[in-house]
Amino acid sequence: MKIIRTKDYAEMSQLACEHVMDAVKNKADINLGLATGSTPEGMYECLIENNKQGKVSFKKVTTFNLDEYIGLEPEHPNSYHYFMEENFFKHIDIQAENTHLPNGIADDFEKECLRYEKLIESKGGIDLQILGLGTNGHIAFNEPGSKFDSPTSIVDLAQATLDANARFFDSIEDVPTQAVTMGIGSIMKAREIILLVSGESKAEALAKTINGEVTEDVPSSVLQNHSNVTIIADEAALKLVE
Ligand code: GLP
Repeated sequence: MKIIRTKDYAEMSQLACEHVMDAVKNKADINLGLATGSTPEGMYECLIENNKQGKVSFKKVTTFNLDEYIGLEPEHPNSYHYFMEENFFKHIDIQAENTHLPNGIADDFEKECLRYEKLIESKGGIDLQILGLGTNGHIAFNEPGSKFDSPTSIVDLAQATLDANARFFDSIEDVPTQAVTMGIGSIMKAREIILLVSGESKAEALAKTINGEVTEDVPSSVLQNHSNVTIIADEAALKLVE
């Protein structure tokens, strides 16, 4: 694992943005794995700015998002479809048909999970996966206890995740309790992974990710088994790491 310590959120976002830009410049038709949440917002802003200035183009890029809430229409302001559209896709030169997210309102979720997993494979797999980190060590929506070889699946969200994500909803009762998520097995197939982490609330989870036992109780600890992971984290998040 390569660890890059930044002074704050802004620097973390800037470095992540530069890393993604370099990757897109090296491979114009790259397959990017994307994440939602507060953590990557600054990186998306920076990528949008650079795209507007003509310094990077997403015309040939294909994206796959990690997860989506079950039961939320793509137009729902709390859906991850909506998040990606508002925070990234609508501002850049990417082709809409090249952006992919799991369908949160599928008729048959078993089929949907298989479809998504196969779609990623059929496009050649993910070259660079961006990840955030849950306070309980979750990656995407793979909660503690998730199998390390899990494919795209339907999952029940942990109470800690419902609590953490309630800030985006009117009340905690409105937070969907299930999601469809790329599995840990799917994520580990990515050729390169960048984990972005900011803030003291993630310090314990990040310390376990880097130095803890590799265990399904801490989903992110699986990253110790991947050969090409870069962690870009600010000082507050790395507080418990020497
Ligand atoms: C969410 C998402 C994850 C995200 C994580 C951290 O529940 N499913 O993909 O990385 O929790 O979110 P945030 O960046 O808002 O702290």
